[in-house]
Amino acid sequence: MHLKPLLAACLLCAAAATAQDAVTPEPPLDVDAARAELGKRLFYDTRLSGDAALACASCHQPALAFTDGLALSDAYSGAAHFRNTPTLANVGFRDAWLHDGRLGTNLNDVAREMITETYLMNMDMRIMQERLKQDPVYVEMFAAAGMSEPSNGGARNALMDFMKTIQSRNARFDTGEMSAAAQRGQGIFEGKGQCVACHAGARFTDDQPHNTGVPSNPDIWSDPERHSAFVTYAKFFGVPNYMNLREDLGAYIRTHNDDRRRGFLTPTLRELTYTAPYMHNGVFETLAEVVDFYDAGGGDDSLKDPRLRPLGLVPSEKADLVAFLEALSGESFDVDAYVWREDDFDYVLIEDWRNVQN
Ligand code: HEC
Ligand code: HEC
Repeated sequence: MHLKPLLAACLLCAAAATAQDAVTPEPPLDVDAARAELGKRLFYDTRLSGDAALACASCHQPALAFTDGLALSDAYSGAAHFRNTPTLANVGFRDAWLHDGRLGTNLNDVAREMITETYLMNMDMRIMQERLKQDPVYVEMFAAAGMSEPSNGGARNALMDFMKTIQSRNARFDTGEMSAAAQRGQGIFEGKGQCVACHAGARFTDDQPHNTGVPSNPDIWSDPERHSAFVTYAKFFGVPNYMNLREDLGAYIRTHNDDRRRGFLTPTLRELTYTAPYMHNGVFETLAEVVDFYDAGGGDDSLKDPRLRPLGLVPSEKADLVAFLEALSGESFDVDAYVWREDDFDYVLIEDWRNVQN
């Protein structure tokens, strides 16, 4: 795959023209540089959560390809999440978002879900808007981005543009520097592993839900904070018997079609070296464990995708497959292009504020 050399600093101005070449032949994403810069500041600002304790970046950390290293995500104070935080690498190219794929519109809607959901950031949009309007830096940045005064919708659009700039760069797979082991692993991935059946294309996902029989994570049901977040979610989506349920039904919640039970969106396989633990509930800590899982034909589930069969891989083949998966990770996102470095989130007193227009 052809890859143009890319200056990190240029991502915000020219993401559409360069970065996606590394990742996907899909049409370039439309990114407004000034909005993305505003979105970058918002992404690191804890004032977007109700109690000003959590920023997007608390859970989506740049050094971990915008994940948090936890099996199950933390959440708003007094709650805990029942899912693993997904990477935001190449997230602008997805057709559907969240592990169950329940949002299929755009990243603006995903941002709203993150900000307002009680067990995520628990923020009231009206308060958020007022907080933004109190900050002269935002007033300036919204104007520079061609939006009048700070608003909820504008903030979500800016977050969306920032997220679109998060694109993988210079994985050994793209630069043609794969080791011999990784090249053998690619052969298994495309051949007897049948991995490409679902992990297809340059992002290594078909954006569709499948049941692979991933075992349940018991910590969801034994921790009252996680369990109550799950009940809140299942009740909202009209899942029958949600009080007694002890399994995450995944994509079922979209259609209430029983065949979809325990189906989860195929995740991208890019940036895996940064994003452990794996799966929607973080049950596997290493890539070796994931490969063992597939070697055994996936998990134990009556609705499991029939394409998952025992593979009979010998230890050297498993190691090659892991080497290939590792070669799909690129440069760290912990660089200035993706990180708002200034800690300037304190409010500055606006002199004579009653008479100041913003
Ligand atoms: C408390 C931790 C936490 C915070 C804070 C948080 N997220 Fe998330 N994020 C998650 C979890 C967990 C999921 C998966 C949820 C699910 O599957 O239901 C997720 C999913 C996402 C996704 C979907 C990714 C995909 O591939 O489907 C996007 C995009 C996203 N978050 C963006 C944001 C933005 C923008 C913010 C700030 C406005 C934010 N998140 C704040 C934990 C968090
Ligand atoms: C039938 C479709 C399908 C096939 C075939 C398949 N996968 Fe997956 N893969 C998935 C789905 C769906 C998930 C997410 C499951 C979940 O979250 O519970 C996943 C998750 C993963 C993950 C974890 C990624 C993360 O960020 O959590 C890895 C690694 C992976 N697969 C590698 C492979 C390899 C290697 C093969 C071939 C041996 C393979 N997959 C075959 C559908 C598939």
